[in-house]
Amino acid sequence: MKFLVLAIESTCDETACSIVRNGIEILSNVISSQIDLHNTFGGVVPELACRRHIEVIIPVIKQALTEAKTSLNAIDLFAVSQGPGLVGALLIGINTAKTLSLVTQKPIIGINHVEAHLYAAIMSTDQVQFPCLGVVLSGGHTSLIYMENPVDYQHVAFTVDDAIGEAFDKVAKLLKLPYPGGPEIEKLALEGNPHHYKLKAGFVKEQPHNFSFSGLKTAVLYAIQNQELSYEDKCNIAASFQHAAFIDIITKTIAMANRRQCKSLIFGGGVTNNKKLREMFQLLAPSFVQVWPAAGLSLDNAAMIAGLGYARYLKYGEDPLDFNVFTQFQTSKK
Ligand code: KG4
Ligand code: ZN
Repeated sequence: MKFLVLAIESTCDETACSIVRNGIEILSNVISSQIDLHNTFGGVVPELACRRHIEVIIPVIKQALTEAKTSLNAIDLFAVSQGPGLVGALLIGINTAKTLSLVTQKPIIGINHVEAHLYAAIMSTDQVQFPCLGVVLSGGHTSLIYMENPVDYQHVAFTVDDAIGEAFDKVAKLLKLPYPGGPEIEKLALEGNPHHYKLKAGFVKEQPHNFSFSGLKTAVLYAIQNQELSYEDKCNIAASFQHAAFIDIITKTIAMANRRQCKSLIFGGGVTNNKKLREMFQLLAPSFVQVWPAAGLSLDNAAMIAGLGYARYLKYGEDPLDFNVFTQFQTSKK
């Protein structure tokens, strides 16, 4: 059997298209990043992001088809990121996918971007034992997601303010580092003392499993205000901030995994690229099977959208052509 899914991803600042065979074999995975465009602003500018998506989306799709050595007529299903994300950016991807579906008379399915981040890790292995706990750590999300199986997801914890990647980007901006800040902080932290500054992530009253990082970012601001920072100071701040954020995530993840009797942890999102995070999880949560996304699948990409698109299509079928975007997190309907 040969079933080809063409998927489109345009939730934020990457325009991506991927062609995946039988839900698992990645034939092409083209990603056009806009980092150059937003770098000078220290974060994503939605208007600029949308204009760039429009310019590159067709060339990106053409490249994905060429690299996969296939054509539009051979595609069996179109999958597209439906949300959450920037509304204008999502609309460009969704309307492109709907047009392709209409023209080729092939089915289409809308996919939850956050859930697909977890599917990226599942695609790389057959080691996952269900039920398991998904941990999504990205620029837009910090979520714990209970998974009964590879297709059904239940959102059990989230951030009440900044996402973890957003906190990395904001702290990096305070230290005058380029965007995206995550990899820059990780680099500086290697040479810093994680206990130099006494920092702590937020505790959410009456919701102890949820996350809060905006106070942590403000604590960094107060710690460095009106000071000339040496390279050593910056390394110590990076290491202390990163350590406080990761300890908080690891503690809350272990508590939730135990409460829900999960034996495996599945990771997704750009922040899971961080080597220190992986090292700390392996050290502090050794009793859990840990499944991390393969290289190339942790940042935003369309292969993960194709993978989950295929699995959900087999279980729940196609979507009607009039489906809309969603901008806030919501668990997919069954
Ligand atoms: O998953 P992603 O590509 O986009 C969203 O869906 O949000 O994640 C991007 C985020 C950025 O905030 C970036 O700073 C962060 O992931 N990031 C990292 C690392 N690499 C990327 N954060 C910490 N350490 C890293 N090595
Ligand atoms: Zn993402």
